[in-house]
Amino acid sequence: MQKGKQIYEGKAKILYETDDPDLLIQEFKDDATAFDATKRGTILNKGIINNKLSEKLFILLTDKGIPTHFVKRLNDREMLVKKVQIVPVEVTIRNIVAGGMAKLLGLEEGIVLKEPVLEYHYKEDKLHDPLINEYHIRALGIATDKELDTIKKYSFMVNEALKAFFNSKGLTLVDFKLEFGRYKNKIILADEISPDTCRLWDKDTNEKLDKDRFRRDLGGVEEAYQEVLRRVLE
Ligand code: TMP
Ligand code: ASP
Repeated sequence: MQKGKQIYEGKAKILYETDDPDLLIQEFKDDATAFDATKRGTILNKGIINNKLSEKLFILLTDKGIPTHFVKRLNDREMLVKKVQIVPVEVTIRNIVAGGMAKLLGLEEGIVLKEPVLEYHYKEDKLHDPLINEYHIRALGIATDKELDTIKKYSFMVNEALKAFFNSKGLTLVDFKLEFGRYKNKIILADEISPDTCRLWDKDTNEKLDKDRFRRDLGGVEEAYQEVLRRVLE
């Protein structure tokens, strides 16, 4: 696979063209940002860890019937992915109250929700990824009704698959964020699945093993990412 020119650089990843117009190379960086990139840093080897974790989790989800953009991992920091048109909506699923939901509703972190909560955030850092609902998405033509149904269905399927998988590794899946894209007129899962995009707590101690260690200056950030990779691959 020939690596072509860079077409996009985001906060954590870079996308390159390839000699196949349907495929891109997705490179994972060590850069970490929080609070709409007002906080910046690096997490040593994060790119390598998130590449390997995303590979493992995308394969798991494919096996559960969820189509994803993942094609294959190329090396430590790069994977080959299908070139999608990203739907500019971040889908969050929450099993336990934390982060944004705790703040929005003045709740304690750690409350176990009676059922998973699905949120949509409009993907626009300048506006701080505002919370929107299905009416905004349909009325503004961000996605069609049919696409939204698919996005919702896949998101809950991802939750069930990841909750069970992480649980088997001694990790509680608190919440996570997904991004979807259009590929040949179909909705597929894109982006990444990693401790950048999931909150993962140790099942026994509730120790945070995700990007909250960076966001909240808790220390042991690299060690937490390494620990998640170790458990996921064992
Ligand atoms: P939140 O509680 O800050 O809304 O985050 C919910 C989940 O989404 C959490 O697992 C972290 C993830 N997330 C991202 O992947 N990107 C983001 O920009 C934000 C704010 C959260
Ligand atoms: N990645 C996001 C940012 O920099 C925020 C986060 O993950 O907390 O803005």
